[in-house]
Amino acid sequence: MTRDFIRFVRRGRVVELRDFSARTTLLDWLRLDERSTGTKEACAEGDCGACTVVLARRRDDTMAYEPVNACITLLGQIDGAELITVEDLAAPDGTLHPVQAALVERHGSQCGFCTPGIVMSLFAHYHRVSAPPTRAEIDDVLAGNLCRCTGYRPIVDAAIAACNDRNDRFTADEPARLARLEAIADDEDILVGDDGAFFAAPAREDTLAALLDAHPDATIVAGATDVGLWITKKLMPLSKIVHVGRVVGLDMIEESETTLTFGAAVPLARAAEDLGALDPDIAEILRRFGSVQVRTAGTVGGSIANASPIGDLAPILLALGGTIAMRKGMAVRTLPIEEFFIDYGKQDRAAGEYVRHLTIQKPGETTLVRAFKITKRMDEDISTVMMAMAITLDGDVITSARIAFGGMAGIPKRATQVEAALAGARLADPATWRTAASRLGDDFTPLTDQRGSAAYRLTVAGNLIVKGLAEMAGTPTTRTRVKPRAEVFHAAP
Ligand SMILES: Cc1cc2nc3c(=O)[nH]c(=O)nc-3n(C[C@H](O)[C@H](O)[C@H](O)COP(=O)(O)OP(=O)(O)OC[C@H]3O[C@@H](n4cnc5c(N)ncnc54)[C@H](O)[C@@H]3O)c2cc1C
Ligand code: FES
Ligand code: FES
Repeated sequence: MTRDFIRFVRRGRVVELRDFSARTTLLDWLRLDERSTGTKEACAEGDCGACTVVLARRRDDTMAYEPVNACITLLGQIDGAELITVEDLAAPDGTLHPVQAALVERHGSQCGFCTPGIVMSLFAHYHRVSAPPTRAEIDDVLAGNLCRCTGYRPIVDAAIAACNDRNDRFTADEPARLARLEAIADDEDILVGDDGAFFAAPAREDTLAALLDAHPDATIVAGATDVGLWITKKLMPLSKIVHVGRVVGLDMIEESETTLTFGAAVPLARAAEDLGALDPDIAEILRRFGSVQVRTAGTVGGSIANASPIGDLAPILLALGGTIAMRKGMAVRTLPIEEFFIDYGKQDRAAGEYVRHLTIQKPGETTLVRAFKITKRMDEDISTVMMAMAITLDGDVITSARIAFGGMAGIPKRATQVEAALAGARLADPATWRTAASRLGDDFTPLTDQRGSAAYRLTVAGNLIVKGLAEMAGTPTTRTRVKPRAEVFHAAP
């Protein structure tokens, strides 16, 4: 069965939409169609959080409150969710929601432009916590909400005061709200539009494969944290959009003794839990991946399929020995992830072929992992250089090295010459670290751009290799971290 409309819950009622452009963003629908102008538009590229809204969804029979940037969320993506915006928080008698009241009491708003987004990020967090949050936790929660004038101290104070008790009218009404979501849940394919222009959201892999076979020119969309910007910034006239977020199976995570497999549509926030458990450095990098809003929407598959040379996930998967599985029509194939990235803007993926899942090898007991992300800003910033390394040892001898970089070439890439220099060397010998770092120039000829010069990138990358190996050897000659490795991170929300 195929539906020719999307539907979602809004203010207790089911809304059905069958006549909209595939390119319509949720923010445009809210502000221009529904005329709910409380949600603001500022950057229109997912950075500032002024447009944050909450999509409430049934997850394992409980209600998940998921904050997303409405400016880069496509309207069709909200099928099956309850849409909550800043106008909905206060009670009908005008009583403010606890997060709103706390912001008022603690002077957390001046010009107010960022405030609706901050309220919605905190509203989502309010429903996530069971104990008073720490300041560091709130810093994470608000990493994707930029305030230019109030200053964060009163905002964070308000957040800590308010987010300690899931006891608002939304919680009280949850059984009825969950029932409403259950009533509109189905496994029907969606196709709004016609053969020439459509928004499609298949529910089954077979339909997805057939649709992409028939329309190889269609744009695949997962979280739209990249594709959304093609619409708002590049003004690309995308007419056929195939959303993979409803496809059963692409949302699974599977673990074996030696491997972890992520369906392409698994959101980064979910993947971060399993990937982060492998190593504290990986957890820290995923905590610094965009913002809560970006990790909530963005997916594992989108993050690899976009082949960004400065993406943070690819070097991790390359270092851990990842494979990528793809399907076109009935044909399924799997290849090592390094073979997927061919050149800048060029991947080994045919038109109409989609990513099904990604698998990594879990590091064994004799494999040590390090990963570092170098940015101009600590939070919500794209890498200048990113390195992930996995070193396997037999005693003190390096038997295998996998070292991958982002920001050093037109694609995420392994440093094969560095790896070769390390094979068979003694980890504890500082000469090993320096020899390895000196081979970087054989692997990379980085670019100079706004984020860093070629010389800076080569120097930083070399230092990261030395830092990682020195830490693994357990004898760093100088202190390598501001805080010890195990303490730098806390669970990503
Ligand atoms: C504010 C902001 C901050 C960001 N910060 C970071 C960061 O810190 N680190 C980082 O690495 N990235 C960052 N990004 C980039 C982006 O969020 C990630 O690359 C994200 O993982 C993309 O996933 P998505 O699901 O949103 O992809 P989408 O935008 O949906 O798609 C991206 C690309 O992948 C293709 N695609 C998606 N799914 C499939 C599939 N199953 N099969 C085939 N092709 C597919 C799409 O056609 C498109 O070409 C940031 C983006 C924003 C807006
Ligand atoms: S308007 Fe800035 S994130 Fe959407
Ligand atoms: S109150 Fe002015 S931008 Fe935050």
